[in-house]
Amino acid sequence: MDRLAIDGGPALDGAVRVSGAKNATLPILAASLLSQSPLTVHNVPQLRDVNTTIALLRRMGVGVEFHPDGRVEVDPTTLENYFAPYELVKTMRASVLVLGPLLGRYGRADVSLPGGCAIGARPVDLHVAGLQALGARVKIADGYISATAKRLHGAHLVLDKVTVTGTENLMMAAVLAEGETVIDNAAQEPEVVDLAAFLNSMGARVTGAGTGQIVIQGVEALAGDDYAVQPDRIEAGTFLVAGAITRGRVRVEHVVPEHLEAVLQKLREAGAGIDTGTDWVALDMQGRRPDAVDVSTAPYPGFPTDMQAQFMALNCIADGVGTVTENVFENRFMHVPELQRMGADIRLEGHTAVVRGTEQLRAAPVMATDLRASAGLVLAGLVAAGETVVDRIYHLDRGYQRIEEKLARLGARIRRLT
Ligand code: EPZ
Repeated sequence: MDRLAIDGGPALDGAVRVSGAKNATLPILAASLLSQSPLTVHNVPQLRDVNTTIALLRRMGVGVEFHPDGRVEVDPTTLENYFAPYELVKTMRASVLVLGPLLGRYGRADVSLPGGCAIGARPVDLHVAGLQALGARVKIADGYISATAKRLHGAHLVLDKVTVTGTENLMMAAVLAEGETVIDNAAQEPEVVDLAAFLNSMGARVTGAGTGQIVIQGVEALAGDDYAVQPDRIEAGTFLVAGAITRGRVRVEHVVPEHLEAVLQKLREAGAGIDTGTDWVALDMQGRRPDAVDVSTAPYPGFPTDMQAQFMALNCIADGVGTVTENVFENRFMHVPELQRMGADIRLEGHTAVVRGTEQLRAAPVMATDLRASAGLVLAGLVAAGETVVDRIYHLDRGYQRIEEKLARLGARIRRLT
């Protein structure tokens, strides 16, 4: 099991190119099942979760070629089954994203229930209810969602909660349905917008993505071509926080600055100088200790839950007291006891962490528990006195492409222990 050894201290200084967005890639690869013809997705990051999705598609008989330059060639015409087995779905709950495309295109899907994960129960009840409203017959037995539909028909859906993959699944199910579908209380994340743009590039008729109401006019068939995935706003935000926590200067390139507004606002509040261009953001902490900030997570365009652990780490060494409130998931504070072992002063009050910044954290052996918690521990390791060893970093590899290489290029003393 790989670990990361980080010798804390140096202020990061330099530029880093951000990879394609994991949470846009996963639904877009699932949506390729809707295409009548082979297609190519560009700018795909080399991540465990991408490899898992590709393994799932291959298991269905879909031809997939993942090239080192980030191109993924998909040939969905050879699909031969509609099955997403537990042993794959349990490693990545986003596998549930094949449900909508399989139902929309083939009228059949047998997908394992994803089960919970470290950060919460993470049910898929809203996915299922929406598919039923679109005309699917859904049976849940033996841990599997078995769904069938002659042809889905449009419906007016009002989601009880804002759900990113729920919105994506229902959008993918609706594009080939008969008639018009309206999704109210839809997720507005940029990754939802990227998926809608991909669907429209295949001939779908989706409008309103990025707002709370998405309208889909069903069409007869879709055919993919070439599509490039948008940059990963969470990876970009993570590297900007790395620059702030080490009091250095980091420029993230190949990003969409508008996707980072809520994060940039909090970094400015922490005292960072922020400059933005068309596809880059530069942070300069000018060697200063960050000021503590209050963050409270919410669906986009609010402060992203996927940046919560990173800002928790920043507050651990900031000047003052900062609060971190997690409103999206019920159990996304697993990084707290690990940070406390590094000397952080954090008090939990329900779903709010009260963090009193300390001048210095101390290196300690820590364990990653989920993707973004591990990112928070790496950030703390960048400034802790001594050598921090982060264990179980397979969690990190799910969402960050060789993070240690990118951080080392920025001046961090970090290496992977295999
Ligand atoms: C997506 O997860 C992301 N994953 C998550 O990123 C991200 O943290 C999350 O959205 C919130 O932004 C992908 O896009 C692959 P939700 P998702 O459905 O869609 C509840 C990462 O780090 N809910 O928006 O699973 C749910 O329990 C990952 O890259 C239901 O109750 O999240 C949660 O409390 C982690 N019933 C809330 O809604 C449902 O049917 C939001 O979850 C669906 C969701």
